[in-house]
Amino acid sequence: MIDIKRFKNLLADKTPDTAIILGSGLGGLAAAVGSPLTIDYADIDGFPRTTVAGHAGKMTVGRLGSAEVLCMQGRFHLYEGYRPQVIAEVVQALKAVGIRQLIITNAAGSLNPDFAPGSLMLIKDHINFSGQNPLTGANDDNIGPRFPDMSNAYDRDLRQTMKRLAEKRRIPLPEGVYMMVAGPNFETAAEIRAFRILGADAVGMSTVPEVIAAIHAGIKVIAVSAITNFGTGMQSTPLSHEETLDNARRASENLTTLITDFLKENRND
Ligand code: HPA
Repeated sequence: MIDIKRFKNLLADKTPDTAIILGSGLGGLAAAVGSPLTIDYADIDGFPRTTVAGHAGKMTVGRLGSAEVLCMQGRFHLYEGYRPQVIAEVVQALKAVGIRQLIITNAAGSLNPDFAPGSLMLIKDHINFSGQNPLTGANDDNIGPRFPDMSNAYDRDLRQTMKRLAEKRRIPLPEGVYMMVAGPNFETAAEIRAFRILGADAVGMSTVPEVIAAIHAGIKVIAVSAITNFGTGMQSTPLSHEETLDNARRASENLTTLITDFLKENRND
């Protein structure tokens, strides 16, 4: 159990209502946060720790755009061995300290020849191919319904706002479908071909459990993928984690601009 009282104490006088989850190599956004307060996950009793390179394991709380935000640097992946319910606990802890809107970022492989490495994709929907679900087990009706509706999981109005801002900045932001796999291996070429047929535009190893838990808890979601590579078999060179991080860094500059613009307009109040 995550110690909510301790979490609230560490936040002190900060009252963020927007949380941002930063993906692999996308930690740069946290540097743009003004008057930052840093909280190590390790200082919140019961909070899980991160184990992946490029994921810091702390949150930065402060001002971005005209909003107060809680920026999570480091998330929890199924491939690290976490039970998916751990991800729901983290999202529910965010809700308990006042978060009402969640901006999710991730690094993803492209399945769409038009979506090149280094570019961004606004997630309009997902396919949960992980075989797991953060809501498996008893349902707490105080948090949300047993069978949550996913028809507007990636909030239409928030997407509209984000697309308008991207256009203004001339940053390409096509919408696409995100496919989640459990990982940790990258896909085979046959899997990539199959996922394209299934209707996915990008594939990655995160986000979906967070979105499911957030929708269940009544938190609004918007999510953007930084495309770091083409899926296996779509380009001639093999994938490395370094390549992934490098392209994520390129995309992260545009992402920082967009999210900052977004938070100037969308104060969720
Ligand atoms: N596959 C799965 N996850 C990823 C990829 C990929 O090609 N790139 C970045 N995360």
